Amino acid sequence: MTHKSHKIAVIPGDGIGPEVTNVAFEILQLVAKKNSVTYIERVFPFGVNHYLLTGETLSQESVEELKKYDAIFMGAIGSPKIKPGILEKGILLNMRLSLDLYINYRPVKLYPGVDTPIKDKTPSDIDFVVIRENTGGLYTDIGGVTMKGTPDEVAINEKVYNYQQVSRCVRYAFKIAQSRPRKLIALIGKTNILTYVFDLWERVFNEIGEKEFPEIKREYYHVDAACMHIIKSPEIFDVMVTSNMFGDIITDIGAVIQGGMGMAASGNLNPEKPTPSMFEPVHGSAPDIADQNKANPIAAIMSMKMMLDFLGEHNAADDIEKALQKVTPMNLNRMSTKEIAKAFTNSL
Ligand code: NAD
Ligand code: IPM
Ligand code: MN
Repeated sequence: MTHKSHKIAVIPGDGIGPEVTNVAFEILQLVAKKNSVTYIERVFPFGVNHYLLTGETLSQESVEELKKYDAIFMGAIGSPKIKPGILEKGILLNMRLSLDLYINYRPVKLYPGVDTPIKDKTPSDIDFVVIRENTGGLYTDIGGVTMKGTPDEVAINEKVYNYQQVSRCVRYAFKIAQSRPRKLIALIGKTNILTYVFDLWERVFNEIGEKEFPEIKREYYHVDAACMHIIKSPEIFDVMVTSNMFGDIITDIGAVIQGGMGMAASGNLNPEKPTPSMFEPVHGSAPDIADQNKANPIAAIMSMKMMLDFLGEHNAADDIEKALQKVTPMNLNRMSTKEIAKAFTNSL
């Protein structure tokens, strides 16, 4: 057995980010000790206060520094104190692009005892994974504005994909489908209106599926219908693969049906591991509940679990999963951040 010490970069960030990050690291400390996992962590200050103080969102030097780590854990960034987009693009998008974290892995799983707003659905109905393409689409910052502030203003954000971006994402999604029992994958697109981009996606999806994964059953849904199905019949999904923006939207719906934003974990991955992957909850900085001991830290804890799995520390990850099974039957909606943290540490 190897005893590699993992180097972890931590970006607690803004709003509830630091609160949920603290809990996730409390849990890490315990499962690491129990499983003889060793790690060193360094906290980075990126976020609104650092930006207001220094003007830095995430500089190229900082990106280079982050590359020296084995993984990055982030709480959340974003603040009503400054214009939307500065931190989101400057830090989050910058990391996803600079580190080529081309997969956003977002499981949607209803745990026993957790309230779902969907009537009559149980954990056996809600258990799928969204593979969200994480570097292209509407997120490339290609576009622009002209004649701003005049009645002639033109504003453009382009949805951009190339063959390579689509195929590496689709291939990864098929591999995930292959690793799960149902052998089922759905492409979520909009081939009826975005006829260039989703024609590319659909061809690549069918080509790769047919040639490399003939045992996986392929389905296709338009994104609007998919949103309807996620709420009406989530059990029809196992692995969903989709573009960046559609994946963003679908996974907030996914978060709600698995018990709320506080339950949804995510990994921004480069599966070939040339750079550190980054783990963060799906939720944002939730300024409306920040510093009130109200944030549900489970999304952060489960993102930590995903990080441990990615680092090869499966026993430590399994301990987190087992503890979660004990915690979710409690009435989470009525519990504070600290109470959930305590229940979790007691269950380990
Ligand atoms: P949000 O996810 O922060 O909040 C949406 C709603 O969910 C709010 O009512 C919030 O109170 C609730 N919520 C979120 N996390 C919760 C938790 N752990 N426990 C309980 N309730 C929770 O989304 P928003 O309000 O659209 O965005 C707020 C800020 O966060 C913005 O600046 C946005 O750009 C940013 N953001 C950042 C990330 C990220 O860092 N990855 C993700 C999404 C949004
Ligand atoms: C997410 C967030 C980000 C996104 C924002 C904050 C840029 O909503 O991670 O889901 O749109 O990807
Ligand atoms: Mn989002």
